[in-house]
Amino acid sequence: MSAPSESGPVDRPVPTAASDSSRDVVLKTEGITKRFGAVVALRGIDIELHRGEVLGLVGDNGAGKSTFVKILCGFLRPDSGRILLHSEEVKFHSVTDARAHGIETVYQDLALVPQLTVHQNLFLNREITFGGPLAFVDNRKMRKLARQYLDAIKVNVPSVDAEVEQLSGGQRQAIAIARATRQDAKILLLDEPLAAMGAKESALVIDLVKDLSRRRDHSIIVIDHNYTHLFELCDRLNVIQHGRVTFDKAVHETSLEELTALMVSEYRRQVQVGDGEDDI
Ligand SMILES: Nc1ncnc2c1ncn2[C@@H]1O[C@H](COP(=O)(O)OP(=O)(O)OP(=O)(O)O)[C@@H](O)[C@H]1O
Ligand SMILES: [Mg+2]
Repeated sequence: MSAPSESGPVDRPVPTAASDSSRDVVLKTEGITKRFGAVVALRGIDIELHRGEVLGLVGDNGAGKSTFVKILCGFLRPDSGRILLHSEEVKFHSVTDARAHGIETVYQDLALVPQLTVHQNLFLNREITFGGPLAFVDNRKMRKLARQYLDAIKVNVPSVDAEVEQLSGGQRQAIAIARATRQDAKILLLDEPLAAMGAKESALVIDLVKDLSRRRDHSIIVIDHNYTHLFELCDRLNVIQHGRVTFDKAVHETSLEELTALMVSEYRRQVQVGDGEDDI
């Protein structure tokens, strides 16, 4: 059995009446732990995600960020801890289960089919059909709805008939995010959506994510290693170190310098003591 987290003091803001703590919490986790054999990936993760908020997860390689997101999207089961959706405890048995609760994930490899067009990818496995039992795929309708939705969320692609393999990395990521949010998903999990993208491509995805949160009320968790991206994209930042949240601040309450200093001091500490925190 996993022991309870031995959480150190977390650098959290003091709540005020007008602060974020008073906003709607759509997703909350309490004491999520996970180990893989001898490796303890998560030691008790507590987070809160508010309505319309972009929460950034920062942390070194192997800190446990992806494991946490895989638990939130139903891909992995936690060893202990609770997930609360709108204050109700939920237990996800699969990705489909989490999806049915409105949680969608976009992984780095995107899961798009490069040889299919933009509109075919948007409706993949959720095709619109007509003709009753004969069920012909209604390409015209899907094309029209795809255009409307991409326009609504301001995603700019040359044509909905373009094959995805002809698109840039940023455009592909935007289509993957559009696919995830086109249905009822109100919570979106993005694991390194900007990895290996140039400045212009990143800007496209950053604008889309901001628009989804601010204009369309999606609540979004983003993992990214690039602090500049995170400061541009997020409302709040949580640092995960050795499977625990060690820092929780709104972006306007912290700075690039503070975050960098935190990570550097963690690095120095590891060098001094040896990185021996393999067990709880
Ligand atoms: N399926 C698995 N089997 C065994 N160990 C795993 C598995 N998945 C993750 N781990 C281990 O759990 C720890 C956390 O990994 P995780 O992928 O969550 O880190 P991360 O914070 O996402 O890192 P990165 O920034 O490199 O993506 C690591 O030590 C990793 O080796
Ligand atoms: Mg990862």
